[in-house]
Amino acid sequence: KLTLDLSKPGADVSLKLFGLMTEEINHSYDGGLYAELIRNRIFKDNPKAPNNWSVLEQAGGKGNIQLDTKNPVNNALTVCLKLVVEKSEGQTGVVNEGYWGIPVKPQTSYKASFYAKGTDAAIGPLSVSIESNDGATNYATAQVVLSKGGWKKYSVTLTTASDVKPTTQARFVISTSRAGTYWFNLVSLFPPTFNNRPNGNRQDIMQLMADMKPAFLRLPGGNYLEGDLFSTRFPWKATLGPIDQRAGHPGCWGYRSSDGMGLLEYLEWCEDLKIEPVLAVFAGYVLKGDYLPAGPFLKPFVDEALEEIEYVSGDVNTKWGAVRAKDGHPKPFKLNYIEIGNEDGFDASGSYDGRFAQFYDAIKAKYPKLQLISTIGGRDGLGKRFKIKTRRPDVIDEHYYRSAWEMEEDAAHYDDYDRKGPKIFVGEWATREGSPTPNMNAALGDAAWMTGMERNADHVIMSCYAPLFVNVNPGGMQWSSDLIGYNAISSYGSPSYYAEVLFGNNIGNKTVPVSGENIPTQTRNANKKDSIAGTMPKPIPALFYVASKDTKTGTLYIKVVNTSGKAEDITIDLKGISKVSADGVQITLKGSSPGDTNTITEPDKIVPHTSKITGLGKTFTKNFDAYSINVIKLQVL
Ligand code: AHR
Repeated sequence: KLTLDLSKPGADVSLKLFGLMTEEINHSYDGGLYAELIRNRIFKDNPKAPNNWSVLEQAGGKGNIQLDTKNPVNNALTVCLKLVVEKSEGQTGVVNEGYWGIPVKPQTSYKASFYAKGTDAAIGPLSVSIESNDGATNYATAQVVLSKGGWKKYSVTLTTASDVKPTTQARFVISTSRAGTYWFNLVSLFPPTFNNRPNGNRQDIMQLMADMKPAFLRLPGGNYLEGDLFSTRFPWKATLGPIDQRAGHPGCWGYRSSDGMGLLEYLEWCEDLKIEPVLAVFAGYVLKGDYLPAGPFLKPFVDEALEEIEYVSGDVNTKWGAVRAKDGHPKPFKLNYIEIGNEDGFDASGSYDGRFAQFYDAIKAKYPKLQLISTIGGRDGLGKRFKIKTRRPDVIDEHYYRSAWEMEEDAAHYDDYDRKGPKIFVGEWATREGSPTPNMNAALGDAAWMTGMERNADHVIMSCYAPLFVNVNPGGMQWSSDLIGYNAISSYGSPSYYAEVLFGNNIGNKTVPVSGENIPTQTRNANKKDSIAGTMPKPIPALFYVASKDTKTGTLYIKVVNTSGKAEDITIDLKGISKVSADGVQITLKGSSPGDTNTITEPDKIVPHTSKITGLGKTFTKNFDAYSINVIKLQVL
C-alpha cells in the first residue's frame, strides 16, 4: 500500500531536474548527431593514408589517390587528397564510404560541396553522385565544371527520386573521364538538418532528444573537455567560424574530431531544443594526469574560461560577444551554470581545491550571478580523497555508473542529504547493463534511481544520463550502455531512454510525501559483497515509488517501478484532498524479461503504452506488471 500525503504542499521540484550530457564519444557527433555524411572530410584522420577514401575505376578508368601536404587551402586545410587520372576512358574518381555508409532516403536533397583544383588537362566536367556500393545504382547525380586557377569551392545539390528504397549501402563519388591531376579538400555532404540549420544536426536524433523534454545540455564533456593532453583539450576557439577554418583535433576516445560540432553549434543545439547550456570550462587538468596548480601559470586558462563565458553570454559590445555576432548569432545565450573541470577527483595531486578557487574568484568577480559547479566534494566516491575547502561551491557534480542492483539498493541515496550544503547536480549517471544500449533491467535500475532524485528534487537540482549517444556499427562504440543508438539512417531509444521520457514528461512542481507499507522485497543471488555497503547482500525493496503534483493544474503524478518478475496489486491511498477525478491515465513501460531490449532492427520493442484508467477515488488499487515502470496521472483538488 502507498499512502500519499497531499494535506500540505511538499518541497519544490527543480524545473531543471532532467537534462542532457554530451561529449564526442561513440561517434556522438562525427558519425552521429552532426549531420555531415563524409568521413575524414579534410583528410587529417590518419597522416599516413586517406582513411575512408578509395579510388573509383569504372569502365576502363584508371587512377590512384594519395595524401598531399604541398597544396594547402589555408592554415586549417593543410592536407588534401590528390587524384591522378591516368586515362581519358571510363570514369575515375574518389569515393567516400561515409560513417558506415551514406544514408539514402527517397525524395531527399543533399548539399554537396568541396574545394577542388586540377592541372590544365583536368579542367572540365566532374560528376558528383551518391550511388550504391557496387556502382550499379545511381541514386542522385549532378555535374560541376572544374575551372582553371587555384582552389575553388564547388557546391551542388543532389536529389533522390521518390521511389528510392532507403539504404545505407551507398557511397559518395566525385569522378571524371579526363586524364589529369586533381586535388580535393573539405569534401562535404549534408542531408536536410533539424530546423534547416546550415552545418546542422540530424533530424531524427534531435527529435528523440526533444521528446525527452530536457531542461539543459551539459557540454562539451566529460573527458572530451579535458583531453588527454593540454594540447588536445576541447579547443573552443578553434571550433568557431566557417568550417573551412576548422582543423579538428585529436579526441580522447580514439578518433579525431572534425570540430564541425563547435561551441556555437552546441549553443544552437540548445537553442533548437529550447534548453540552456551548462558550460563546462577547462580547469587545468588533463586525462593523462598533467595539471597546473593554482597560480600564475593557470591564469591564461582562467582568462580563456572568462572569454568563453563572454562568447556564450556577452552582448555584442563585448569582445567575444562581437565574435559570436560575426559568427552569425548576435543574441547572447542564457547562461546560469558553469562547471569547473570534469572529474577532478582523478587528479592525484589534489590540486583542485586551489584551481577551483582561482576560477571561482575570477568568474564570480565578473559574473556574480553565475552558479559554479565543483567536480569534487560529493558522495560519489570520486573526490573522496580530496576536500573542497577554500571556497563553497554553489553546486556539486556527482557521477554514478552502476549495476541495476546497485541503483535499486541506493535509490534512497539523496534522502538524508544536508539541505544546507551545496545543491547537487548528478552530471553523469547510468545503470550499465546491456550493450550498445541498456536493456530493461537497466531501465528498472534507472527508474528506481530517478524516483530518489525526484523525491529530493528540492536539493538535487539537475541530472543527466551519460553517455547519451552511440553509433551501433562495429567500431562505433567506445563505451557500452548509451541512451540513444543509431546507424547512418535510423535511430532508436533504449528502454532507459523511455524511462527518462516518462520521468521528464510527467513531473509536478511540488513533491508529495509517500509512505509504503508491505512493500515487496528482492534478494540478490550473487554471493559477493555489496559494492556500496561492503557487506553481504540483504533484501532491498523490489518496488520503488515517488509522487509529485503540479499545483497549477492539480495533476498528480504517481510513479511506481516494479523491478520484480511478479505483477503486484498496490492500493493507493490519497490523504488530504477533497476530490479526485474518476478517470486518469496510466503509462507503462515494460519488458518481458530483464534482458529484453530495443535494437536498431527492433527499435520499438519496449516503448511506453498509455491507457485510460477509470473508477478512481481517494483509495484505489492498481496492478503493476512485472518488470514495469509506470506513471499514473490523475486530477486532485
Ligand atoms: O561518460 C563517459 C565518461 O565517464 C566521461 O567522459 C567521464 O566524465 C566519465 O568518466
